Amino acid sequence: MNKGKTAVIIGAQWGDEGKGKIVDVLSENFSMVARYAGGHNAGHTVIINGKKFILQLVPSGVLRPGCRGVIGNGVVLDPVALLKEIANLRAAGVTIDGNLFVSNRAQVILPYHRMIELAAENAPGRVKIGTTSRGIGPAYEDKMGRRGLRVADLLDLELLKTHIENAVHEKNMIAHALFNSEPLDADKMYKEYADASAQIAPFVCDTAALLNQALAGGESVMFEGAQGTMLDIDHGTYPFVTSSSSTSGGAATGTGVAPTAISTVIGVTKAYCTRVGGGPFPTEALDALGDQLRARGNEFGAVTGRPRRCGWLDLPLLRYAGMINGISWLVVTKLDVLDELAEIPICVGYKINGKKTAEIPAQASGYDQIECVYKKMPGWRTSTQGITQMEKLPKAAREYLAFVEKESGARIGMVSTGPGREQTMFVDEFSAGLRALAEPRTRAQARI
Ligand code: GDP
Ligand code: IMO
Ligand code: MG
Repeated sequence: MNKGKTAVIIGAQWGDEGKGKIVDVLSENFSMVARYAGGHNAGHTVIINGKKFILQLVPSGVLRPGCRGVIGNGVVLDPVALLKEIANLRAAGVTIDGNLFVSNRAQVILPYHRMIELAAENAPGRVKIGTTSRGIGPAYEDKMGRRGLRVADLLDLELLKTHIENAVHEKNMIAHALFNSEPLDADKMYKEYADASAQIAPFVCDTAALLNQALAGGESVMFEGAQGTMLDIDHGTYPFVTSSSSTSGGAATGTGVAPTAISTVIGVTKAYCTRVGGGPFPTEALDALGDQLRARGNEFGAVTGRPRRCGWLDLPLLRYAGMINGISWLVVTKLDVLDELAEIPICVGYKINGKKTAEIPAQASGYDQIECVYKKMPGWRTSTQGITQMEKLPKAAREYLAFVEKESGARIGMVSTGPGREQTMFVDEFSAGLRALAEPRTRAQARI
């Protein structure tokens, strides 16, 4: 029986909601932080005392001394990218050794995954998703096709060699036949990945056992979602999605911690909305106001540098995210980005052919028929940047948040007014809940 508590942090939109910052702030209350899905397509920005970290595979929790990070089995892991990230973190003075644990069951991304993704994305007649070109989709394809390489296999050099030889032969033939791609060299790949294997080995273990033992011992675990609800392979705007289960359910399958052990789900949403890449975006603002959001919010991808598409908060989607994830608390980030606006449009409902609908379309084409119904909320036109108490927010900002809370059906527990750790405010009840999550940890430590 698990004694420790857990919380899943998920993106309620299309990613980049500020999950990294929020995980960093909340990690104070947790012994461990685990990634359960995605790979280095994620870019989680954390700013501590003005110093910026962009985490891609390593859980944001490792930035806090005493907090251990886990890369779970649901992740697709590029060993070369992980080693580069580890080297950067070490150079920045972050203690990684002894603090980072990589699942022996995580899938490995190899160079042919990138080759196939790039070729497919640019092939005529294919739907262009606008991926991050990290090989994520093809690596998950191999996982589901039961022909992937897992971290445990990466450490088994004989198996690695045979796997690379066979896979490179097959992928070269496919990529040449379909896309006329240049072939990859299996020997060169084996040498590079055998070298990476030796460097990754000290981090590898059965992380499901590790997490469950920690929970049984009363420690608290946070699951750091990557991407967002609308990028989820099942529940997002398919096919304009990523290839993993980024919603809260993925935390269980992606780590080996049972669904019954999940204590709470915290959804992170911007005070407006963005997405990177192609696909439906009902509230997209293609006008000067959209450009203003991009400029003020610095809406450029943390990993790819691509400009993010910007628009208004979409309450039907937020309600949908609440339903799919079971969000009990909402965190609203980037409130300060709205500071200069005289009026803030917010989508309160959808209409199709003039009729109101609560349904979220199952097809990308279904979104083309949606007409957004907007309510214009008064802006506050004063700076909220760095405010840390709800009472200090301008009245119009409090009213905006109260409206979001009422319409989304989830309580707002936390609001962020800047990228820094300290530019954050908490609702008392949410803080008390966090302390309750942390209590078993304190007790467990007291026993040691
Ligand atoms: P993630 O992928 O969900 O972790 O989000 P990203 O790090 O990709 O993107 C969020 C961006 O917003 C980063 O540049 C953060 O530093 C920044 N950010 C987070 N919270 C706030 C906030 O409350 N205000 C402002 N202005 N920036 C924020
Ligand atoms: P974080 O964790 C925003 C998007 C890509 C593309 C689609 C598929 O930082 O919020 P992929 O490379 O995953 O096959 O691309 O998903 N995407 C993200 N957008 N934030 C992310 O992660 C994303 N990860 C993938 O832009 O549209
Ligand atoms: Mg990001």
